[in-house]
Amino acid sequence: MYIEGKARIKDSGKAFLNPKAKVSRDLSVAYVSHLAKRDSALLDSTAATGIRGIRYALESKARDLTLLEINRAAHKALKANLLLNKVKAKAINESIQEFANSGNGRFDFIDLDPFGGITPYIYDLMKVSGDGTRLMVTATDTAVLCGADSKACMKLYDSKPIHNELCHEGGMRVMIGYIARVAAQFDMGIDVELSVSYMHYMRAFMRLKAGASAAYASLEKMGYLRYCDACRNREAELGFLPRNSDCSNCGGRMAPYGRMWLGDLKDQKLVDSLCRKTKDDERKGEAFKLLELIKSELDERFYYHIPTMTKRYKLGSVSPYLVAKRLEEAGYSTSLTHMKGSAIKTGAGLGEVVKMLKSN
Ligand SMILES: C[S@@+](CC[C@H](N)C(=O)[O-])C[C@H]1O[C@@H](n2cnc3c(N)ncnc32)[C@H](O)[C@@H]1O
Ligand SMILES: [Zn+2]
Repeated sequence: MYIEGKARIKDSGKAFLNPKAKVSRDLSVAYVSHLAKRDSALLDSTAATGIRGIRYALESKARDLTLLEINRAAHKALKANLLLNKVKAKAINESIQEFANSGNGRFDFIDLDPFGGITPYIYDLMKVSGDGTRLMVTATDTAVLCGADSKACMKLYDSKPIHNELCHEGGMRVMIGYIARVAAQFDMGIDVELSVSYMHYMRAFMRLKAGASAAYASLEKMGYLRYCDACRNREAELGFLPRNSDCSNCGGRMAPYGRMWLGDLKDQKLVDSLCRKTKDDERKGEAFKLLELIKSELDERFYYHIPTMTKRYKLGSVSPYLVAKRLEEAGYSTSLTHMKGSAIKTGAGLGEVVKMLKSN
């Protein structure tokens, strides 16, 4: 028996169960239990053992639950787990694609946690979404999103990924950008409420907003990351097409990456609330630590990875805390980031950051 939160799960070996995804589930349970009401309709579209759906039922107010699972043996296992936990839910042995195309209303919360990438599912999930739907999405095809397989990213996400120290944030923005583009086809925009790059996955929590103007507003937050290999300068550029541009720091050539989401990666007020929610629950310790870091993180675009910078400028190693302190003293807001160790987010430009690295 595997116990997590209030759920007891019988691991029959017939349905996928990864204890390492507990942090993802703890964050999701905190999010749902903060936002759901009794009449909220929730779809766990890739249910496996049913652990997420069962935890949503036992740890939030939501009572109208639907669990989808394509695999027959896994579906049988999840039905047994629903019984074991005395949770009433619709357990449906169908694919997302079949389900979404059978006239099944709309959901207030949708959880997508497939094997690998998200691209085969988002279009169909939009058909069971509407104004205010909360979409919680995990991608584990991080090699694709982070550019180890650049061609696959162009094929699947229609975006050129960056494959260097910025790949964690780049990959997250490529994934969210894909969702924004598909949502726009359904006349919906997105607000990103929380995004987490952790271990082998990226997970984003978004609120959909209906209307053509909301769709256009989201598309206006799309654009490109331009990166200079020579001096490690980076610029974010909003727009439908990238402009050619020389590096403002060294005059070299900057390469464009994207299109990708350049809007916010979190809703600060919501993250504050989730921190309060997980704080006193020691079973959610790791999720709380992660949320605390995200809470303190500046929502600036593209962190600076300090070891990459010191290597490029042939400097001795410098603690990211020290660089952050120096930048703060010089008047620039600065924070660490949960996305990568030894990296900082700051309002300062490359020139200022390099100056602080050198002021040893
Ligand atoms: C990574 S597991 C989900 C794990 C689960 N969310 C958890 O937290 O333990 C992905 C599940 O999605 C199911 N699946 C794959 N394709 C699907 C589809 N098109 N529709 C519905 N379920 C699908 C798989 O059979 C598998 O059980
Ligand atoms: Zn440059």
